[in-house]
Amino acid sequence: MAKVIALANQKGGVGKTTTAVNLGIGLATEGNRVLLLDADAQGNLTDSLGFHEPDNLPVSLATMLQKCMAEEAYDPEEGILQHHEGVDLMPGNIELSAVEVALVNTMSRETILRGYVDSVKDNYDYILIDCMPSMGMMTINALAAADSVIIPVQAHYLPAKGMTQLLQTVARVRRQINKKLVVEGVLLTMVDSRTNFAKDISFVLRRDYGDKLRVFQTEIPLSIRAAETSARGKSIYSHDPNGQVAKAYVSLTREVQGIGSERRQTRQHKADHSR
Ligand SMILES: Nc1ncnc2c1ncn2[C@@H]1O[C@H](COP(=O)(O)OP(=O)(O)OP(=O)(O)O)[C@@H](O)[C@H]1O
Ligand SMILES: [Mg+2]
Repeated sequence: MAKVIALANQKGGVGKTTTAVNLGIGLATEGNRVLLLDADAQGNLTDSLGFHEPDNLPVSLATMLQKCMAEEAYDPEEGILQHHEGVDLMPGNIELSAVEVALVNTMSRETILRGYVDSVKDNYDYILIDCMPSMGMMTINALAAADSVIIPVQAHYLPAKGMTQLLQTVARVRRQINKKLVVEGVLLTMVDSRTNFAKDISFVLRRDYGDKLRVFQTEIPLSIRAAETSARGKSIYSHDPNGQVAKAYVSLTREVQGIGSERRQTRQHKADHSR
């Protein structure tokens, strides 16, 4: 059964979508079955994977959520697209805005996406949900459906205020809707290692949050090569395989997998001891 990870930060342009693409394809390259869910009405994830007109797709996440809200039956494989680098995609588009409005007046409005995710979970090892830059109903649905959340943070500014708000939301979701939700880690993105400022942010983040949260060892460097990938519809591994950003995403992939196996080992250890 899949591990479900949401990529969330209400701040825009911090690298959520870029991380969904490259962590997703990284995990698939390591032999995992991966589904990427585009839970953003901007459809950037869908676009970045080469489906450049998300609004013209006949079936998208909005379609599936509408079916879940109406309690209509569906085929769990319906609407899922394949990317040539080995990941599956449930695309997202502008119709998600209407769904987000409709959710407000729906019964179990926070857990509609969870219902959909549960129906496809058996087919994958990892499901990554790319959230929109807001703490609206779609993001709450993503947190309710997830096992953990990765918080990408841009190294250009001090993230303290936004982080506090986001962590409070995560804590509230954990208390009220989804007990198992944990923060997988905070990921520093667009790190310009030539500046002391980026080093300061990294230091402050690790100092202030390091004892409460995992701050990933991997930092994603700032590079124009990363910014170019979305227009080309491919990952950084095929666009610039020997570059620093590709190396960083390989390293992040290993960290995320390592976290998974560490937890499994701890659980196994506990299980062995309770026998
Ligand atoms: N490591 C990087 N170096 C340089 N540019 C990057 C890097 N990662 C992402 N970008 C670029 O920065 C912009 C924002 O990245 P991205 O779309 O991944 O952020 P996001 O958090 O998903 O944004 P939104 O909140 O709008 O959904 C994009 O143009 C992307 O190509
Ligand atoms: Mg995005």
